[in-house]
Amino acid sequence: VKIAVFASGSGSNFQSIVDSVQSGQLDASVELLVCDKSNAYVIERAEQNGIEAFVFNPKEYQSKTEYEKKIALELQKRGIEYLILAGYMRLIGPTLLREFENRIINIHPSLLPMFPGKDAIGQAIAAGVSLTGVTIHYVDEGMDTGPIIAQESLTITEHDTAETLAERIHEIEHRLYPITLQTIFNRGGVRHHEKSAH
Ligand code: GRF
Repeated sequence: VKIAVFASGSGSNFQSIVDSVQSGQLDASVELLVCDKSNAYVIERAEQNGIEAFVFNPKEYQSKTEYEKKIALELQKRGIEYLILAGYMRLIGPTLLREFENRIINIHPSLLPMFPGKDAIGQAIAAGVSLTGVTIHYVDEGMDTGPIIAQESLTITEHDTAETLAERIHEIEHRLYPITLQTIFNRGGVRHHEKSAH
């Protein structure tokens, strides 16, 4: 399965996916990193692992449609089948959604539908909840709203800060994302009720 990982930041999830491929735990090939920030550390990670990167500056394009058309070309060139979002801080638009229907997956650091959007970990701390977690879901046009594929929860203690919580969330993410992707690839990606809904 040929995949492209979309990321805007440090890329620890990108790394865990690459590592899982290398160890044989994930039967896929990371063909491309797509990144919208020229100074993101994830670009270095791609270089270190010999993975091509398509880095673009959204401001240099007229619209989301324009840069997504360019991304789509890069994906087509390489025969990419799945788009794996890992800290990509932009909404996916109709251009990519249409072309990769049911083939775009995201990871989010909360138990969706709670705390969508930015800083989900800070949101959970601020809300004072005692339980949060990680969600992996299919991407639709909304912000963190597509059909949920997998979730794992963890307890927030009174001693937790945003930092300690983020660390434990990342540990879960790095384990859960690769195994969930493998499950999706094994079953061909589209669940029956989603298929019949279209
Ligand atoms: C992760 O917490 C992910 O859930 C969220 O963005 C963060 C990316 O972290 N969507 P990293 O760049 O993979 O380290």
